[in-house]
Amino acid sequence: MKVPPTLYPGLPEAEHAAMMLCRMIGVETAPCRLISTSAIDGIPDAFLSDGPMALVVDRFDRPGGGRRIHIEDGGQIIGAVGERKYTMATYETILNMIRRFSTDWRADVLEGMRRIIADVLIGNGDNHLKNWSFIFPAPGEIRLSPAYDIVPTVLYAPSDTLALRFAGTHSFANVTFRRFRRVAEFLRLDPDWIEREVRTVVNHACDRWPPAVKDLLGDARAHRLIQRLDTLALVAEARV
Ligand SMILES: Nc1ncnc2c1ncn2[C@@H]1O[C@H](COP(=O)(O)OP(=O)(O)O)[C@@H](O)[C@H]1O
Ligand SMILES: [Mg+2]
Repeated sequence: MKVPPTLYPGLPEAEHAAMMLCRMIGVETAPCRLISTSAIDGIPDAFLSDGPMALVVDRFDRPGGGRRIHIEDGGQIIGAVGERKYTMATYETILNMIRRFSTDWRADVLEGMRRIIADVLIGNGDNHLKNWSFIFPAPGEIRLSPAYDIVPTVLYAPSDTLALRFAGTHSFANVTFRRFRRVAEFLRLDPDWIEREVRTVVNHACDRWPPAVKDLLGDARAHRLIQRLDTLALVAEARV
């Protein structure tokens, strides 16, 4: 559960909205919901007084019935401690991990691509190594875990940039189809296959988000998020 923080008003609502928007473009997100802070017991009131809502996320590594499923995050995999979760790798490193370790790497590479697109479109500048995990659901099986911790950080830090470099850029605005093609080539994947997926996902976002986002974020923040799409090369290119 994430309670409302003092420093970032409306963060549970913003994270919830981002998770829902991601789900609308095919990202597999951890199931989550907002609950009223007044309905929460067992936590000191001081932690519940900075906003009306808290975000509850279901754990994918504790599915119930006493079962424990191993997960391992990108920071653990490459040994990134502390702030090195921002500096020890790039998005390509993550995609390369998926390519090498996932037992359904074709599906998971596309899922990883969708998450990168979502970060760009939503303005999530905090998708560092520890916000990517692998899950070990059964013996011999390794998959990308459901997505978590997706936050439109640009709502709080308007000049924020991507947490990890993507094909040579940290700039949301400068992520292009060409960069996705370069990454595909680097991973020895078919660039046309990747470009088709990118185009489809961006178009889904442009179609599906505007009618949904006001209910999720309120008028002012929804307006900022939708206006921001026009600043992105990825959106301009998907439209032609
Ligand atoms: N739904 C989940 N199931 C299991 N583990 C999770 C889930 N969501 C997050 N985690 C783990 O908990 C850590 C902290 O959660 P996260 O949402 O990233 O919070 P924070 O905003 O504090 O970074 C993550 O790095 C991940 O290891
Ligand atoms: Mg996190």
